[in-house]
Amino acid sequence: MNLAEIRTHYPGLQDGIQLNTGGVGLPSLEVREAIDAGFNRLYEEHVPPIEWHSLMCQSADVAREKMAAFLGAEKEELALTVSTADGYAAVIGGLDWESGDEIVITSEEHPMPHQAVLGLEEREGVFLKEVEIDHDPAVMVERTEQILNDRTKMICMSHVTTDTGLVVPAEAICQLARERGIPTLWDGCHAIAQIPVNLNEMGCDYYASNCYKWLLGPLGTGFLYVSQEAQKHLKPLVHPHKPGGGAAQYRMSNPAHALYAGVGAAIDFIESIGGVEAVQKECVRKSDLLKNNLDAVPGVVVVSSRRPDSQTGTVTFAIKGMDGKDLDHALRNRWQIVQRGTYMTEPTGVRISVAFYTDEEELDALVEAVKVLAIEAGNG
Ligand SMILES: Cc1ncc(COP(=O)(O)O)c(C=O)c1O
Repeated sequence: MNLAEIRTHYPGLQDGIQLNTGGVGLPSLEVREAIDAGFNRLYEEHVPPIEWHSLMCQSADVAREKMAAFLGAEKEELALTVSTADGYAAVIGGLDWESGDEIVITSEEHPMPHQAVLGLEEREGVFLKEVEIDHDPAVMVERTEQILNDRTKMICMSHVTTDTGLVVPAEAICQLARERGIPTLWDGCHAIAQIPVNLNEMGCDYYASNCYKWLLGPLGTGFLYVSQEAQKHLKPLVHPHKPGGGAAQYRMSNPAHALYAGVGAAIDFIESIGGVEAVQKECVRKSDLLKNNLDAVPGVVVVSSRRPDSQTGTVTFAIKGMDGKDLDHALRNRWQIVQRGTYMTEPTGVRISVAFYTDEEELDALVEAVKVLAIEAGNG
């Protein structure tokens, strides 16, 4: 399928220039059809309501199996959730904490995971320690190692960071943690379907994500991975604990089966265009072009990594003399370019999500707008 064909599957691409897949990705026609078919089955095929619950569970289980294969996990290690926050709640709430325990995070956590661990700090007297992010994975591993001590109770990081799209060396950090008996919890929101993720190979204990960003599934879907070993320790919040008894015990609500059928369709689409490896290669190729074109604009600073071992399709940049919020608003309001302002990393700027369905002409239009704004901000 060429790009023009791919784009016909995403009607949302017609509404301005959509460069915020890292915020909310666009669902394909197939995703929407799968959701409709799931609900129609209940409401229009006269299935008696008494059978709805088992039908919904069976159908969601089919999606769970597909998700597990896509993520390099066993089905029994995945719980369907409605959001990343849901997964974090299950892990943070299901473990025992003591005052003085330490949790290690990165300096670039999204407010959701950050506030979840801040809540724990407030309730349990746990301390947060931050690893300053760096584009060099070896530096990240070294900094993490230096911060660990015998009070470290958990490492709780983004797999790909939210503001600049940096790949955190998860496998090496999981290994460090395992050697010391420290469990790891990962936020996979920007990793899933942006970079290849194999949870069993990664060696983590817990991994939570939604499915509505780079995977392009529906809002209201997500998953929590709990490794076989971690299932012995994590207590479910709304069920009795069955050590090693499967991750479904961590599910907090009935799955909206039709939405998960949408997740299945999103996975099928990605597989049909070559899988995540092909997607990653294409996104990095286009994001490299964008970075080079931005470099040529006086006053523009590209903040995201350019290292092959830590870059993604996310391109974050700033304009000297212009606040990130103003840049975000100007791009949205004057050029209908949808992206997101960045506020965690200095200088503030905007985050551009280069997805497989992004057209190079859209990136060129962005660069033209940036040229105008950079001059208005007093550059060149
Ligand atoms: C890195 C990251 N973590 C967590 C979240 C929150 O995810 P959810 O809405 O699934 O709880 C987001 C959403 O923008 C995010 O970007």
